[in-house]
Amino acid sequence: MIILGIESSCDETSVSVMKDGAVISSLTHSQEEHSLYGGVVPEVASRAHLEKIDVLTKRVIKDCNLTIDKIDLIAVTDSPGLAGALLVGVSFALGLHTAYGIPITGVNHLDGHICSLFIEHPNIPTPFLCLLASGGHTAIYRYESYGNCRCLGRTVDDAAGEAFDKAGKLLGFPYPAGRAIEEEAAKAVNADKSDNTDATDDKKESIKFPIARLSSPNSLDFSFSGLKTAVKNFISSNSEQYIKENRPQICRAFQEAAVSSLVNNLSRASKSYDDGIKTIALGGGVACNGYLRDELIKKFGADNVYFPSPKFCTDNAAMIAMAGLKMYNASKTRFPNVGPSRGIAEAI
Ligand code: KG4
Ligand code: ZN
Repeated sequence: MIILGIESSCDETSVSVMKDGAVISSLTHSQEEHSLYGGVVPEVASRAHLEKIDVLTKRVIKDCNLTIDKIDLIAVTDSPGLAGALLVGVSFALGLHTAYGIPITGVNHLDGHICSLFIEHPNIPTPFLCLLASGGHTAIYRYESYGNCRCLGRTVDDAAGEAFDKAGKLLGFPYPAGRAIEEEAAKAVNADKSDNTDATDDKKESIKFPIARLSSPNSLDFSFSGLKTAVKNFISSNSEQYIKENRPQICRAFQEAAVSSLVNNLSRASKSYDDGIKTIALGGGVACNGYLRDELIKKFGADNVYFPSPKFCTDNAAMIAMAGLKMYNASKTRFPNVGPSRGIAEAI
């Protein structure tokens, strides 16, 4: 079965061809114009998608020596996301559907992130706990099978990736800032390794940010807005020179706080099940973070932690094609509809 995946929900235009669950060609264009503004500008995003979507589709189909009539199903992201950006992908997909009579399904973007795991780990043991952490969403799911997925907790304010982006903006990094913060934090870690003196340890101790705890002790929800405010207050109560000199240490302290919150909730979620759910999975752009991956491996063991390659963590059409395949196999395909979002990840 050959599926054409199309993703345009935010600032990545992506098209992918999947054959029987294997990605045979995938192209993603990341819109860099938003770095000027420190965040995604919806109108700019829609126009940039319009410029790229047909070019990418032609190239992807040509790359795998196919013709459009060989496509069995079009899977297109239809929710959630920026309305104008989604409309570009959905209108384009509907054009192909109408012109060539190819069956089509709308896909929930969050389902796509969860299904990104199956691209490289088709036999991941179920049930598993999936942490989805991206620029727009942060939640923990218990996944049994397609159509049987329950949200256990989600952010009550900012998403984890949004917190990286906002803290990064305060520290002078361009949008999106997640990767830059990770790289800057690594400088502090490497400096400690090469200069393992008491003085350095003191300095490390001196910068710490709070890990949010929600009022209910059993809640698996997240909160990241306090962490962003703590970084903001720290910056405004220290000199520009101090902030500049200690940027790696600040990034490390921020990353430790953000990651601790993610790991702590996953740990509590895994303990809350009598069936001893051991398999932990990651998805979404923040899942690219090496420190997060290492901390999870330390806590749960390398054999129990699954994550996609970075190119399948950030927004991509291969994950949308994979979700389309799961929907098709479960007889759950549906006509695309930009509007209230529907999918396994948002069913609860
Ligand atoms: O999944 P994604 O591409 O888009 C959304 O669906 O939101 O995620 C993008 C987010 C951005 O906030 C970006 O800063 C974050 O993922 N990100 C990272 C890293 N790489 C990307 N956050 C932390 N560490 C990284 N290495
Ligand atoms: Zn995403």
